[in-house]
Order: sequence, then structure tokens, then C-alpha cells
Amino acid sequence: MSAQPESPERSENRESPPSPAPSNGEVTPTSRSRALVLLETAFLRFRYCVAIFAVLYALIILLLCFPFFQGQIVYLNSIRLPLFADFSTPEKYGLSPNKTLNLNLQTPDNQSIGAWFLLNDQYYRSLPTIPTDVAAHIGPAIQARPTVLFFHGNAATRAFNVRVAIYEALTSRLNANVLAIDYRGFADSTGHPSEAGLTTDARTAWNWLVENGAKPEDILIMGHSLGTGVSSQLGAQLGPENIQPRGIVLLSPFSSIREVLDSYNLFGLIPLMKPLSMLPGATQLVSWVLVHKFDSLKAVPNITASVLIAHAENDWDIPSSHSDVLFQAYLEPYLPELVLPGLGPKVFSTDEWQKMLGQQQARKEKRGELVKHTPISKFGSIDEFEADRRQVVLVKTHAGSHDYLPLQEGLQDIIRKRFSF
Ligand SMILES: *[C@@H]1O[C@H](CO)[C@@H](O)[C@H](O)[C@H]1NC(C)=O
Ligand SMILES: *[C@@H]1O[C@H](CO)[C@@H](O)[C@H](O)[C@H]1NC(C)=O
Ligand SMILES: *[C@@H]1O[C@H](CO)[C@@H](O)[C@H](O)[C@H]1NC(C)=O
Repeated sequence: MSAQPESPERSENRESPPSPAPSNGEVTPTSRSRALVLLETAFLRFRYCVAIFAVLYALIILLLCFPFFQGQIVYLNSIRLPLFADFSTPEKYGLSPNKTLNLNLQTPDNQSIGAWFLLNDQYYRSLPTIPTDVAAHIGPAIQARPTVLFFHGNAATRAFNVRVAIYEALTSRLNANVLAIDYRGFADSTGHPSEAGLTTDARTAWNWLVENGAKPEDILIMGHSLGTGVSSQLGAQLGPENIQPRGIVLLSPFSSIREVLDSYNLFGLIPLMKPLSMLPGATQLVSWVLVHKFDSLKAVPNITASVLIAHAENDWDIPSSHSDVLFQAYLEPYLPELVLPGLGPKVFSTDEWQKMLGQQQARKEKRGELVKHTPISKFGSIDEFEADRRQVVLVKTHAGSHDYLPLQEGLQDIIRKRFSF
């Protein structure tokens, strides 16, 4: 390979004025040969980089096969930001004095779950003085205003700065109480994370609110990123029990962890699963080794509450196509069925082809009838439909990326209106 870049160099030399013959392979110290040396070094470095990437890739795929490391990657709960957080003093992270109660909830399987309950601002401000016993105000605050049960994304804790900003917005702009928990294995909570475990933690938080006087219709379940998986699982548990929360809000959601893996770009560049998908059987193997599934699509049929899905178009962590897929899953039961002729190495007959086109057309028309699309200038758009006495709404925003979507005021106002806060 190294011979190739040399040939232009030799031909260049012929054109140069009389020079000593390039006899013993010594390159004359012209600027051109210096460029050549640089080029060769760069090429070597490039090969090193490729080799390092390949090794890293193989390592990551290998680690993903072990449930422990898979969990570490899915939950990132070892990242405990802010470092050495003092959860008993929420004021350190920007919250008003004695507006927040630090709690430990006990799960049925004996885990201790760290949580914050924040009084809504309307109630907090109505008090003549700063409360000295926040716990005594929980019941009255829950009676006065609805509560958001908030499930955060992976990594970090409930005291992380962006999350605190979300509670501040919810307690002021929506005038809602907030209950935010740290799942098992996160922050000051005990145990190790698992899909079933996180669902139990979510149910424990829900039960705590009900025990403290909240009616289901007073509770809005809200999840961000990984928390949307938790919210969907909780919603799928409540639905069959005929318990109707005020609604479920899924911010920057994913359809399932499997789909995230498929669309995830390593270092923002390399499609993680693309190289693997070229090996026969490899994708089935991935499905098989994946233990933390959070398949929110499978939860859809069990969810009977109103649902609002929101995604930023500039989300580089989880593409907004995940939200399209989710919205479509909620819509699917109301569309005419699409019956595809059996797969196989056979040619579609004209009849089959016509039938399929007809079905597609019928679905498109029904979708057009059901779904209302409203662009909002400079902000984004809303798609929505109503069926079985509940609303399903998809909000797309131009701004917000993955982490800051919940802080978009326009989105908060849509949530406030849709769920009558
Ligand atoms: C529950 O956990 C506590 C410590 O957190 C422990 O002392 C107790 O024995 C556990 N109980 C059960 C039934 O596991
Ligand atoms: C907050 O509550 C504690 C008791 O839990 C009390 O000692 C403290 O004075 C209160 N803070 C303010 C600013 O009133
Ligand atoms: C849906 O509800 C049924 C009970 O009616 C339950 O067995 C099933 O596990 C639920 N599905 C999900 C995905 O939660």
C-alpha cells in the first residue's frame, strides 16, 4: 500500500531542475517529501484508529451479552451526579426552603427508594411563613392541586440540575405537586436495577400518593427517556386494574430498548448494530441476550389512559421516529387491518397487489379522518386523535434536544392545557 503514494513523488522529481539522482532511497528534504512523510504518518494513525475502534466495538458487543454490563449500559446508575449529593437538603440544588420533603419509600420486596415530594408553588406561597413541618402539608397540598409522578431517565440522580429545573417548572408553571423517585440502585436507593424492579418502584410511588389522599385522576404519570419505559410499564399495570390516572406523558421516549440499540449511534457516528446485522442470526441473538427490554410497544394495548408523547426533532440520543412508532401503535387498533399475502419467494398476483393497495388506501383515509395535524409556527406540531374516551397526542418540537425537551415552555403549556392543570 505504501508504494502507491510514492509514484507521484517520483514523477514530480523528474520535472524538478537538475538534482542529484535519488540513488539510495534518501528523500530530498523538499516540502513535497515532508508532505509525504506527514501523509504516511496520518495513514498509519488512521489505521491505528480503525483498529482501536474495531477492538472497542467488539468489546462493547461482548459486554452487552452479560446482563450485568447490559444493565450498566442501560441504566448508567453508577454515574451518581451530583457527586456526594445530600438528598436531605434539596435547598442545596436550588429549591425553596422547606418546599421539598426527602423521603424513603419501602417497596413490597423490601427495597428503600429515595424520593422527593415537592409542594406546588400556589400552595407553598399561600402559607403565611416557611413551613417547619413539610410532612404535615403533603395531604393538604395533594387535596389542593394535582400531582406529577415523575420518572427520570438513566444515569444521575433526582438532584441532578436539569431534573431540578423540571420540578421547578412543574411546581410553578403547572402548579403541580411533584413526586420524583430514584429507582433501586440509583442515588440513595438500595438494590440493583431491573425492569421488574423499576416497575415495582414506580408502583410503590403511585401507592404512596394514593395512601396520602391522591385520587388516580389527580395523578399525572410523567417519564423522561428511560422513565418513559417505566411509565409505560406502570400504565400497563394500572389499565387492567381499571385504575385511570389523569394521563401519561412520555417525553423523549423510545419504543423498546431493542429499537434503541438498533438506531443507536456509537460515539454519535457508528450505528451500533449495523455491522452485527450483517451476520446471519446475530440480530435474533441480540434479542435473546437482551434482559432489560422495556418494550413500551407491548404495553400499549394495556394502557387505557390519555397519553401525550413528545419528542424534539433535534434529539440525537433517541431519534424522534421512536415517537412516531409509539403514536402509530396507539392508533393501530382504530385503523383497518393490513393483511399481507404470505411471505415467501413467490410473486404477488395482480389481485393480491390490488387488494393490498386498496387496504393501504383505506388505512390512509381512516388515518386522515381520525388524526388532526396542527403545525405551530416556529415551535413544532401536534398530531392527535380521540378514541374510546381518551386522547392520544404527539407533540414534535423543533428545539429541546434529548435532555432539555421537558423544559420547553411551549410543551409545558400544552401539557397544562391537555390535562387541565
Ligand atoms: C428488609 O431490609 C432490612 C434492611 O434494609 C433488613 O434489616 C430486613 O431484614 C429485611 N427484611 C426482609 C424480610 O428481607
Ligand atoms: C425548615 O424546617 C425545619 C424543620 O424541619 C426548621 O428547623 C427550619 O427552621 C425550617 N426552615 C425555615 C427557613 O423556616
Ligand atoms: C397487560 O395486562 C395483563 C393483565 O390483564 C397482564 O397479564 C400483562 O402482563 C400486561 N402486559 C403488560 C405489557 O404489562
